[in-house]
Amino acid sequence: MKETTGYSEESVPTVSFRQYLDQFEGKSHFYGNAAHAFYDVMIWIQKNRPKKKPNIVMPVYIPAKLYRFILAAGFEPKFYDVPTDFNIDPNEIGSLIDDQTQAIFAVHFFGVPVDLQPLKDLTERAGIFLIEDCAHSINGYYKDKQLGSTGDFTLFSTRKMMQFHCGGVLVLNSQPWKFKPSDTKRVSSSFMAYHLAGSRLKFTINNALNGYNPFRKLSLPGTGYIDLSGNHVVHVKIMDRFSEWYCKLLDVDKLVNKRRENFLYLLNGIRNHSFIQPLGIKRYATKEKTNAYSLNKGFTPFSMPVLIPANMREQVQQALRNAGVVCYIGWPEAPFGKKGFQQAEKLKYGLLELPVHKYIAPAQLKSMVDCLNILSP
Ligand SMILES: Cc1ncc(COP(=O)(O)O)c(C=O)c1O
Repeated sequence: MKETTGYSEESVPTVSFRQYLDQFEGKSHFYGNAAHAFYDVMIWIQKNRPKKKPNIVMPVYIPAKLYRFILAAGFEPKFYDVPTDFNIDPNEIGSLIDDQTQAIFAVHFFGVPVDLQPLKDLTERAGIFLIEDCAHSINGYYKDKQLGSTGDFTLFSTRKMMQFHCGGVLVLNSQPWKFKPSDTKRVSSSFMAYHLAGSRLKFTINNALNGYNPFRKLSLPGTGYIDLSGNHVVHVKIMDRFSEWYCKLLDVDKLVNKRRENFLYLLNGIRNHSFIQPLGIKRYATKEKTNAYSLNKGFTPFSMPVLIPANMREQVQQALRNAGVVCYIGWPEAPFGKKGFQQAEKLKYGLLELPVHKYIAPAQLKSMVDCLNILSP
């Protein structure tokens, strides 16, 4: 990090996403999405330091899309378990490294920060790379260290964190060899602008109507897939010019503050709930004397991951949908691999993501809290 001062609510100036990226030591490269950037990093490592059967040590709780991209790059994933508080175990991760390992991959799940120092130590000892996945994070800190600054490579997703239709960024904090994206084809700006305008219009109407959606039934997202018998091919694209330009306008503080504000409202709204358990809470919130929570400085949420008794998760998701809010359920296609992953299994069947992005209308936040509390016996 260049000249990092740690997080302080008072001193952080308003910065655009572009200026935020410029604070990192390494150069940023703009991609069609974060997964394309990930693929390019794997290809680049393998090209410059070939291994016969390259592998990458991965969390087993990830979207299938990342698994497909690993296979397309010719890597084997070696999976580690993901506990329900996202506190991954460096010993388990260390035990997976062998002489074919090229990198360890770590995710700040849903914005909950992971302590990367033990993994950084592991990678330095083994002479391999650390890839830090900040797809769910922006301007986050853990113990005064900015998320995104520990990994040799860091991925951001403008698609996930800013509700762009696509877009991802690769920050190269270390650059042992020359790097450039493997393709120069761009996502089309008109495609991006069209979808962005459509989604912004939808959000504006949603807000104006206090969360009422007159156009269509709220559809739930589909489940990712992995076909292990198939050939996986990736056509890397770089970010469209419109989004690159928009990154210069996008106000990071505004985005972060709105997410924090929405998150805190939800967290306190359901703090006495009998069966809904916010995940990883110790790493981002403090309980005050009044019994209300405050959020730690430097925590930027993506969504609020909560654990719901497995047989009730779909019921709660449906109740919230009826109340006008669509909630994702993480990655039900995970965990992958033959070995049982007991912790990630709990996430598979119990995790629900409560949305906190800036386009959620205040009335929707209230509906979510009311709906969840009605379900609490
Ligand atoms: C944790 C995580 N990492 C990476 C990605 C890939 O991001 P993108 O959609 O920009 O390729 C996703 C997308 O779902 C994700 O959830």
